[in-house]
Amino acid sequence: MTIIIKDAAGIAAMREACRLASEVLDQLTPHIQPGITTLEIDRLSAEMMRAQGTTSATIGYQPPGYPPYPGHLCTSVNQVVCHGIPNDKPLKKGDIVNIDVTVIKDGWYGDNSRMFEIGEVSIAAKRLCALTFDAMWLGIDQIKPGARLGDIGHAIQKFAEGHGLSVVREFCGHGVGQKFHEDPQVLHYGKPGTGEELVPGMIFTVEPMINLGRRDIKEMPDGWTIVTKDRSLSAQWEHTVLVTPTGYEVLTLSAGSPATPDFVKGMAAAAA
Ligand code: MF3
Ligand code: CO
Ligand code: CO
Repeated sequence: MTIIIKDAAGIAAMREACRLASEVLDQLTPHIQPGITTLEIDRLSAEMMRAQGTTSATIGYQPPGYPPYPGHLCTSVNQVVCHGIPNDKPLKKGDIVNIDVTVIKDGWYGDNSRMFEIGEVSIAAKRLCALTFDAMWLGIDQIKPGARLGDIGHAIQKFAEGHGLSVVREFCGHGVGQKFHEDPQVLHYGKPGTGEELVPGMIFTVEPMINLGRRDIKEMPDGWTIVTKDRSLSAQWEHTVLVTPTGYEVLTLSAGSPATPDFVKGMAAAAA
């Protein structure tokens, strides 16, 4: 395993790529309404990326053993855990959808995703989205030099399972920089004090996938779409985060990012 530590220039480039990735989600937000298809969202995102001078990291992306990914982003609806392929089915009231945007700016990758509720959704769906958001932030809030990757995974797993939810094991966060997916793997479960020690200049994603039912998943015949085996709802949020000398900096923030939870602000204030 080789974790690439970013220098000042790399960090500056990542700040830019990540802000732009977040701004695509900001610009998409008003369009995510009942009746829009995920393919229309895909087309809109392609226009937005063109306008901001970025390209999609996902279109044509082909890790070993996979077919080329056909979308400019991923749209994962209801029981879809991740890597949902945009299609011509309209979103309807009550759906929850994860939109995962990864852009490339000057060779640097910014990766982030958010959940969207279509119209009024069930209390269970709302709770799943909200708890998954908090789980992501709890994981992020473990980040500081000397902490270990297992601390992040443990915080997420303990919180999610404590609320009767389950954590998907097959997919994880990842280092990101001049490649889409680099070392390390950032598991969303684990034991405190285990795993790689965090060092300033590391940049990786935290992107827990949390299910309302059991954690088991299966892959659809398209070779990409991952669904819950029991067809229960699944949610995911994702940020790209830099380890700083004193803690962390979330790089995928922009004007439209949902407010940081109070428990995080509280800790930042206490540390200051
Ligand atoms: N953006 C996803 C991640 O968070 C990866 C999507 S790969 C794709 O790592 F090919 F499905 F788009
Ligand atoms: Co990612
Ligand atoms: Co992503």
